[in-house]
Amino acid sequence: MSDTANSLNRYAHICGWGTAVPDNILTNAELSRMVDTTDDWIVNRTGIKQRYIANDKETTASLGVKAAKSALDTANISPNVLDLIIVATSTPEHNFPSTASIIQDELGARNAGAFDMAAACTGFVYALTVAGQIIQSGSMNTILVIGSETLSKIVNWEDRSTCVLFGDGAGAFVLQGSEVPGGILSSVLRSDGSGGDLLKVPAGGSAIPASYDSLRDNLHTITMNGREVFRFATRVMADACREVVNEAGLTMNDIDFIVPHQANVRIIEAAARNLDLPLDMFIMNMDRYGNTSAASIPLALCEAVAENKIKPYNNLVFVAFGGGLTWGATLVTWDVTTTTSHNQLWHKLRRQALYRVARIRSTIRRGTRTLEGVLWGGEEMSDK
Ligand code: UT7
Repeated sequence: MSDTANSLNRYAHICGWGTAVPDNILTNAELSRMVDTTDDWIVNRTGIKQRYIANDKETTASLGVKAAKSALDTANISPNVLDLIIVATSTPEHNFPSTASIIQDELGARNAGAFDMAAACTGFVYALTVAGQIIQSGSMNTILVIGSETLSKIVNWEDRSTCVLFGDGAGAFVLQGSEVPGGILSSVLRSDGSGGDLLKVPAGGSAIPASYDSLRDNLHTITMNGREVFRFATRVMADACREVVNEAGLTMNDIDFIVPHQANVRIIEAAARNLDLPLDMFIMNMDRYGNTSAASIPLALCEAVAENKIKPYNNLVFVAFGGGLTWGATLVTWDVTTTTSHNQLWHKLRRQALYRVARIRSTIRRGTRTLEGVLWGGEEMSDK
C-alpha cells in the first residue's frame, strides 16, 4: 500500500484535526482507594498518572462529535462536504446502528456515508489507511476519521490488572484529496487472530450473547493477558515501523517523529531501543490520558501539534497494536494543504448554525416517520 501504486496521482492529506475528553479525571491515588494498587506501581509499570473518565451522559458518539466539530473547524470546511465518516472504536454506542451514523446525523453531514471500524487499539491506523486508499482511488474526496472510546464503560473496576490502564477520549482527522504529492505515503496492516483470546470482551456478540449468566460471570468487561500482550507489542511495533518506512521508499533517517499507541511507556522504550532511535522522537502523553485505544494516536498527535512540536513537512509514523491481535503503521507527511480563509470566524458560525439545523431536521424526520407510520403504515402492510 505505497504511494508508488498511486497511478491516479491523487494524494490524501490531513487538513483538520481535533480532540475531546470528558471533564472527570481519575488519578492513581483515587484508583488506589478502589483496588489493591499504588501510584508507584502504576507509574513504574505503565507511565500512567491519570486518565479521563466519561460520566453517564458522555458516550463514544458525544465525544466523537466534539472531536469531529473541532477537526472541521481546523479544516475550515462544512459538514456537507464530507463524503464519508469512519469511526474506529471498541466501545460503540450499540452493535448497530453504527456510532458513525449517529455522528453523521449530529453533524448534519447529509452527503456522507458512515461506518464503524473494529480493529481495537489499531483501529485508528486501519481507518486512516482505508480512508487514504479511498481518496487515492479517486472515488471520494473528503473523509472524516474518528477514534473515539469510552473504555471506562467496559472495564472491570475490580480487576487491578486492567482497570488502571484505560481511559476515555476521542480524536478526529479530516482527510482531503489533492494532486499535490504528500499526505499518507504508505501503510502496513497486519493481524494474527490466533492471539484473539489474549485481549477481549468475551460476551455480547454472537459467540456468547448477553444473558443472566454472562452478566453474573462478568463476561462483558475487558479481560487481558498483560504479559503476553506486552511481549507481542514489543515485537511488532519496531517491525511495523521499519516496514512502513521501507514501503514508502524512505529510511529511518527521514522520519521526524513516531506517534505510537499510548499503552505503556515501557513498550515504547523497548521499541525505541529496537529501532535504535532516541526516545524523544516518540510522542507520548499516556501519563495524562492512559490507554484510550483507538483514540490514543490522534490525542497524542493533536497535543504535539498544539505544542508546536510537529513542524510543517515533518514525516510521522503512526504505529499501533491491540486486540485481534492486530497491528499496523501509517507514514504521513504533515503538510496542511488547505487554504486558510480570512473568514474563519464567519465559517465557524455558519457551521454552528448548520449543526442546529441538523438537529431540527433530524427531529422533524423522526416525527414525520412516526406520523407516516400511524397514518399509512398499516395500509402499506396490508397491500402486500
Ligand atoms: O492497548 C493494548 C492493550 N494492552 C496493553 O498494551 C497492555 C500490555 N501489557 C502491559 O502493559 C503490562 O503487562 C501490564 C501493565 C498490564 C502489567 O505489567 P507487568 O509488568 O507485565 O506486570 P505483571 O502482569 O507481570 O504482574 C506483576 C505483578 C503481579 O503480582 P505477582 O504475581 O508478581 O505477585 C500482579 O498481580 O504485579 C501485580 N499487579 C499489580 N500490582 C499492583 C498487576 N496489576 C497491578 C496493579 N497494582 N494495578
